[in-house]
Amino acid sequence: MLVLGIESSCDDTAAAVIETHQPGVATVRSSVVANQDNIHTNYGGVVPELASREHILGILPAIELALREADCEFRDIDAIAVTRGPGLVGSLLVGLMCAKGLAQRMGVPMVGVNHLEGHLLAPLLEHTVATPFLSLVVSGGHTALYLVEDIGRYRRLGRTRDDAAGEAFDKVAKLMGLGYPGGKIIDQLAQRGNPKKVRLPRARVKRAPLDFSFSGIKTAVAIHLRDNNGRTITRDDLAASFQEAVVDMLLRPTLEAAREFAIDTIALTGGVAANSRLRHRLGDAARAEGRRLIAPSLKYCTDNAAMIALAGSYRLLRGERDSLTVDAEANLPL
Ligand code: KG4
Ligand code: ZN
Repeated sequence: MLVLGIESSCDDTAAAVIETHQPGVATVRSSVVANQDNIHTNYGGVVPELASREHILGILPAIELALREADCEFRDIDAIAVTRGPGLVGSLLVGLMCAKGLAQRMGVPMVGVNHLEGHLLAPLLEHTVATPFLSLVVSGGHTALYLVEDIGRYRRLGRTRDDAAGEAFDKVAKLMGLGYPGGKIIDQLAQRGNPKKVRLPRARVKRAPLDFSFSGIKTAVAIHLRDNNGRTITRDDLAASFQEAVVDMLLRPTLEAAREFAIDTIALTGGVAANSRLRHRLGDAARAEGRRLIAPSLKYCTDNAAMIALAGSYRLLRGERDSLTVDAEANLPL
């Protein structure tokens, strides 16, 4: 079965074609992502209205390119999977309406997919992973720890109480005058910096050891910048110190959960999973305890439509479909 995946929940316009015959086993025939960084960088964050307008311009070209790269045409597609939440509602609507129009015109089934389920299952695009496994989803919009008990059975063990980890990276990058999105820039600067140079707090949430909190670290960096004004500390050292603190705060609950639930496999997904220090340290820490870290390639860590097609394919293979009245939901629960 050839599934066309469509993703437009935030600021990436993505389309992909996967081939699957069996739940959880898929070949990615193409995965196209058009990012809008050049637009949002001027504002230091995603501007929802501009994001939806760009999706409108980019969605059909992205789909056509995905079909071309997959060496197929509209008539070869058997089904469509599209993100219907959570995300920016204006952005979601563009992908969803496009999917509905195509499904109607092509006479194929369509299913709406939860974006988070896409991230949770992204590791399966490249690896064979047995359930249960633990999944740390870290992106610009989400930071949460899930127990994937089975496909379709997800238990949230912990979540951020305030900012998402990616949001903290982006906000700190903005404070440091580095541009948007900031995670990648901080990651690069940090490679030349000393992570012990600036003392920053590691927050823990009282009586909720598997929850996260990143608003304090952002404030600590702001205070540091105000008081030091770049005199003694280089940008590289501040980037490295900030990144180390975020990695520490992500590692502790993840490893605690792995121990508590006796889980051998930890998956790392979402845009922040691209962070080199996080991949390295979580991999080392997991190995030291006899566990395995599975991190998708960078192109499947950040928002993409292949993970949406895969998540949708489980229901499609069972013959399920959504009606064309299915709606976008900004806060769609998993
Ligand atoms: O999953 P994603 O593409 O979009 C959603 O938020 O759903 O994640 C984007 C986030 C941004 O906050 C970006 O700064 C962060 O991922 N990011 C990184 C790195 N690359 C992207 N954060 C830290 N280190 C990186 N190398
Ligand atoms: Zn995402």
